[in-house]
Amino acid sequence: MKLFFLCFFIQFFFSSPGSITQNLRDGYAEMAEADTSLGILILVNKHHKLAEGYRPHDLVPVDDRYNRGIMNLLRSEAAAAFAQMCSTAEKDSIILWNHSAYRSDTVQRQLYENAVERRGVQRADRFSARPGHSEHQTGLTVDLNSTHTSFGKTPEAAWLRQHAHLFGFIERYPRHQEDITGYEYEPWHYRYVGIEAATYIYNNKLTLEEYHGTSQKQTRHPAR
Ligand code: DAL
Ligand code: ZN
Repeated sequence: MKLFFLCFFIQFFFSSPGSITQNLRDGYAEMAEADTSLGILILVNKHHKLAEGYRPHDLVPVDDRYNRGIMNLLRSEAAAAFAQMCSTAEKDSIILWNHSAYRSDTVQRQLYENAVERRGVQRADRFSARPGHSEHQTGLTVDLNSTHTSFGKTPEAAWLRQHAHLFGFIERYPRHQEDITGYEYEPWHYRYVGIEAATYIYNNKLTLEEYHGTSQKQTRHPAR
């Protein structure tokens, strides 16, 4: 019996192709603590983790007119920019709303574990962040309208791609950038970085990783 458990243990930790050990080598290696002193420019990804229990001090609910989500908190500056963006979009007959904004690491853990249960570790790691690694925990991120890839083909997504930077938001996980961002295309996931950085990122077609110079594709570091 003991031998059976020993074999099971060895099999689980060293042989499973989808094991967490394997995946750590792929995505979650070289871990650093996310630098909160960067403020709204903070970088959170597979290599930059928030301290356990991190919660921004200035979370406020997003404007009711532009909310249909249970998770409706954003940092105050991002919430104001979000309301302005939604109100301007409305004038172009584009209806935008919050689907999911701030998430604690406890909520993120549940989401990630559900994803792993449904899809396995390797697949889940491509679309769901592990607790401490989701930028939803920064209070600077909002999922808009629909979290289906087909959202990318809607007039709402087209409007966002064209205008979000004017309000300080960037499309955080663009198509074909998974090698850099660590996540698949998410046309609904927008991140607040402020108008100056968002405009720079938009004009130069960068990801946030490239903006911070943490990707090999990034050669120039913009002035901040
Ligand atoms: N879906 C994004 C990567 C998150 O879980 O934060
Ligand atoms: Zn998201």
